[in-house]
Amino acid sequence: MKTKTLICTLVLATGMPVVLGQNVAELREQAKSLFGPLPDKMPGSENDTAIRIELGKKLYFDNRLSVNDSQSCNTCHRLDENRGGVDNEKTSLGAHGKRGDRNSPTTLNAGFHFAQFWDGREPNLQAQAKGPVLNPVEMAMPDAPAMVAKLGGLTDYKDLFVKAFPGAKEPINYDNMAEAIAAFERTLITKDRFDDFMKGDDKALNAKELKGLETFMTIGCITCHMGPVIGGNTYQKVGLIHPYENTEDKGRFVVTKDEADLYKFKVPSLRNVELTAPYFHDGALKTLPGAVWKMGYMQLDKQLTPEEVDSIVAFLKTMTDKARVPK
Ligand code: HEC
Ligand code: HEC
Repeated sequence: MKTKTLICTLVLATGMPVVLGQNVAELREQAKSLFGPLPDKMPGSENDTAIRIELGKKLYFDNRLSVNDSQSCNTCHRLDENRGGVDNEKTSLGAHGKRGDRNSPTTLNAGFHFAQFWDGREPNLQAQAKGPVLNPVEMAMPDAPAMVAKLGGLTDYKDLFVKAFPGAKEPINYDNMAEAIAAFERTLITKDRFDDFMKGDDKALNAKELKGLETFMTIGCITCHMGPVIGGNTYQKVGLIHPYENTEDKGRFVVTKDEADLYKFKVPSLRNVELTAPYFHDGALKTLPGAVWKMGYMQLDKQLTPEEVDSIVAFLKTMTDKARVPK
């Protein structure tokens, strides 16, 4: 056998040979055309000044945005302690102790999605941020004027709003609150080893992770999980081939009332998925290997082997923000 083209052959524990060298370059080209690294800037960030981002960050972490000063955006989308922008609960507890019916998705990279929420009912971060503050099972403020009045009474905000929205007659208003929070969220762009690989670093991924990437691309996960956030750009039916057990949540149908949208959800991003358990819109899947196997079966009619699941999971973990990799 000529060794000219086969620069190096690794045999994994699974016994599956992975050809490295030339194939790494091919894998990279395929990955770049299907996904591509995350852009450095989020759409809509053109007017985000440092002071507006600072204001948004303060609002994001401020419990006083809820009716009884008990919760902030960060309660359900935790960014402190290097968490993954989620609360890791099946569904979240609101200000009045009631649970919502959906799992909280991550705020990391969320501004790259083509729409917000599992059912895409809001178009962007700014529109989205107006929801939770008034949602009775979330922060439960009675209405927008009540929130504005409350903010107006907090002396530590006055100066910040004036500086963040120069020239505005009444800088403290509900739209500006949402705009500032969105400006902060537009900075939540993560950096990971998979992007290093796509940008040309041959050592960024090991053999098992490369095998996982290859499997992810060849068995069909990419029909739905593609683009830079590995999802976030289409609605797809959950239980496409084998039905999903929980049919309570009708997904996108709730928004459109179109039968064709029954059980369709926004395909979640798989960036940082290592950090965002439990999985699916109802948080029913506790582990990442469990979610991967279930996807293969429900969406692709494939019963993945333990080795395939293992390598795909290894690949997915290369998309964890470097600053948030679990110790
Ligand atoms: C009580 C928990 C809770 C609080 C507080 C909360 N959220 Fe959420 N958030 C959720 C849940 C649950 C969803 C998904 C709801 C759905 O899809 O119907 C969500 C969805 C989102 C999304 C959409 C992400 C995506 O991938 O579609 C963004 C962005 C977001 N929240 C930001 C915020 C911001 C900003 C605040 C503060 C103003 C906030 N959230 C407060 C629980 C919460
Ligand atoms: C036909 C479209 C489709 C295909 C193919 C598909 N997925 Fe998904 N994937 C989805 C949708 C939609 C969801 C959201 C499911 C839900 O919330 O109930 C999802 C959710 C996930 C989740 C959970 C993410 C989270 O944050 O909850 C993982 C992990 C995942 N997919 C991995 C994969 C893998 C690996 C493959 C290939 C074996 C795959 N998917 C194939 C559409 C698809």
